[in-house]
Amino acid sequence: MGTTSSTPVAETITLREIEPGDIEQCARICFEAFGGIDDHHRFPPDFPSVEFASGMMQGFVGLPSTWGVVAEVEGRIVGSNFIHQGDPIGGVGPISVDPKHQGGGVGRKLMEAVIERGRGAPGIRLLQDSFNMLSLSLYASLGFQEREPAVVMGGKPTSPPVEGIEVRQVREADLAGCEALCKKVHGFERTNELRGAMQAFAPYVAVRDDRVSAYATALTFWPMAHGVAESDQDMQALLRGVAAAVDDPLAILVPLRSGLFHWCLSEGFRSLKPMNLMTLGAYQEPRGSWFPSVLY
Ligand SMILES: CC(C)(COP(=O)(O)OP(=O)(O)OC[C@H]1O[C@@H](n2cnc3c(N)ncnc32)[C@H](O)[C@@H]1OP(=O)(O)O)[C@@H](O)C(=O)NCCC(=O)NCCS
Repeated sequence: MGTTSSTPVAETITLREIEPGDIEQCARICFEAFGGIDDHHRFPPDFPSVEFASGMMQGFVGLPSTWGVVAEVEGRIVGSNFIHQGDPIGGVGPISVDPKHQGGGVGRKLMEAVIERGRGAPGIRLLQDSFNMLSLSLYASLGFQEREPAVVMGGKPTSPPVEGIEVRQVREADLAGCEALCKKVHGFERTNELRGAMQAFAPYVAVRDDRVSAYATALTFWPMAHGVAESDQDMQALLRGVAAAVDDPLAILVPLRSGLFHWCLSEGFRSLKPMNLMTLGAYQEPRGSWFPSVLY
């Protein structure tokens, strides 16, 4: 895939699909690009090391549902981007451009490439670092709409598990109930992602009156954690049950306009950094309680 345009800077930018041999350079750029802005705002690093970024990208390159693209200037990689399409809605990111090349049109081309790749889907989505004026303006100018402010929160609920609601790890037999719940809340399902989480993390369900009333793909690693529930009370029951079952603190992205945000604060959670859910294409206001992963 190659693209050129008429402006002097953009003329030198070429795009192609990522290859395994690109990972080292892409991971270094990802670490430096995110590290620069995280340090500037004194946020905890999204990518604590080059090795962390590299491990993540190794996983992406092996996945048939994930497509990665690199941008080159004069034959040298200057940035990369990814789109994840295992379920009906595509999720975008992470995108990163070599700090020496930022502001020169590379990010726009990398975004245009994943938008093109996701064109057959009902919609594509992402979580944007809302303190980053450049990415906010770039995504909005490409048609993404701001849908929900959210904040990464970490902590452990102080309230004990709710009696009468069973909270346990997701089983194969729960998948149909999880799919139905996600469809009810969002209008689409994320079952492939949930299946993947059963291999990589420990997804949990809350079961009330013999049916799935809440589920989450992960609850201690916020980038990969999305959750849905029939109500805020069901989501709280899930979080309270999981907190009692695991040693680590919980970490999730909490929608700011939801009752969940105030509940998390009252339970002692700390707010870590703000983000925005942005969407392109189909969107319905959620009908229930929910929180997004770093993709949507
Ligand atoms: C975000 C990122 C990928 C964008 O890539 P980039 O190559 O720097 O971006 P581009 O130069 O293609 O596009 C930036 C656009 O934002 C515009 N812009 C920048 N600052 C702006 C501001 N304060 N207000 C309005 N527009 C602004 C630029 O004018 C440009 O628009 P144009 O194409 O119409 O001229 C890159 O800066 C990066 O890697 N940042 C660190 C990692 C990161 O934050 N990733 C995204 C997390 S959400």
